[in-house]
Amino acid sequence: MNKKYVNGVKELEKKYILQTYKRQEAVFTRAKDKYVWDETGRRYLDFFTGISVCNLGHSPESVVRAIRKQSEKLIHVSNHYYTRLQAELSRMLVEKSFGAGKVFLSNSGAEANECAIKIARKHGNNKGAFEVISFNNSFHGRTMAALSATGQKKFHKYFNPFLKGFRFADFNDIDSVKKLVTPKTCGIIIEPVQGEGGVYAADKKFLQGLRSLCDKHKLLLIFDEIQCGLGRTGKLFAYRYFGVKPDVITLAKSIASGLPLGVTLVNEKYSGVLQYGDHGSTFGGCLVSCAAAIETLSLLDSRKVLANVVKTGRYLESRLSGLKRKYPCIIKEIRGLGLMLGLELNIDGAKIVEECLHKGLIINCTQGKTLRFLPPFTINKKDVDSAVGILDGIFGKINN
Ligand SMILES: Cc1ncc(COP(=O)(O)O)c(C=O)c1O
Repeated sequence: MNKKYVNGVKELEKKYILQTYKRQEAVFTRAKDKYVWDETGRRYLDFFTGISVCNLGHSPESVVRAIRKQSEKLIHVSNHYYTRLQAELSRMLVEKSFGAGKVFLSNSGAEANECAIKIARKHGNNKGAFEVISFNNSFHGRTMAALSATGQKKFHKYFNPFLKGFRFADFNDIDSVKKLVTPKTCGIIIEPVQGEGGVYAADKKFLQGLRSLCDKHKLLLIFDEIQCGLGRTGKLFAYRYFGVKPDVITLAKSIASGLPLGVTLVNEKYSGVLQYGDHGSTFGGCLVSCAAAIETLSLLDSRKVLANVVKTGRYLESRLSGLKRKYPCIIKEIRGLGLMLGLELNIDGAKIVEECLHKGLIINCTQGKTLRFLPPFTINKKDVDSAVGILDGIFGKINN
């Protein structure tokens, strides 16, 4: 690290950017596939992919080509006109998910959830139902409705009043959900695998219970697959892992390999709820992002990619289990699915993340003590060995 250069960037950042992020001590300048380089040319192995965004590795060549081609042709014309790419991408998404239905394109995960919440509210509107059941420990984004749906108090501090009509049940506890269902309920929103909340996967039976409850009471079942979707679990959609079909799926993060795009996928039954004028976005479905997303989805379609998520996910989990056996005082639990794994520690995780960065490995920590691994789907066993070797070295020192 070039201390002088890094300090210069830090000063500039501090002076001109609202101080809402606690950033790691690194200035990154380029990235390719599973590696990121800092300003001195030092290489880091990326097991975080910018919070599960660069899932096919950084800057896949065909995605870069598609971005370049589209940006030279047409960047923006507004949603007042027809453009082929938005429709093409939406067709791909519908065909790969529900088979029939429609899509709203936005710019981010929070926006994708805002749209889903509006669909649930409009669906319930004529019978006076407006309450959405969400879950403790969930995360759905930082805009006000998405934040109101987020079941973590730490994100709620200072921003009262929140949107009315959000109730919180306990994850994986169907009775706690049943208790909250009333004639005022219009939908349920859930992450099939909670990411920000500490990497907790739902039980299949629990999701089946939610499906039955939604069918019985005519509620919209929304799966927020923004972090856990698009291959993270080893299946293209997380719902397929559990075999439980929601009515709405929200996507963002990795859909356009790093360009901003939010997707609200609605099944056929509810695709007529929003009508002209009910929703919109100036940048929603940016054509360059759509071009990137079409290419990203085509790449994801290769069975090899998803098979590698399953294979390397199992290997990473087994290597982390080895670490747990070696350091029972440091490691409490391993959780997650596919290449979305959490390692809960008995000690502060932030220090470990910092140490990893010093040693050339990028990971993250959530909920104070859970190390979160979100590597690209292109990693192999050797990469897992390198990452686990770095962690082993750090835990070994602590253990002494
Ligand atoms: C499950 C989930 N939903 C929603 C969001 C919000 O997405 P964005 O930051 O793109 O608004 C995130 C972001 O981390 C997420 O993990």
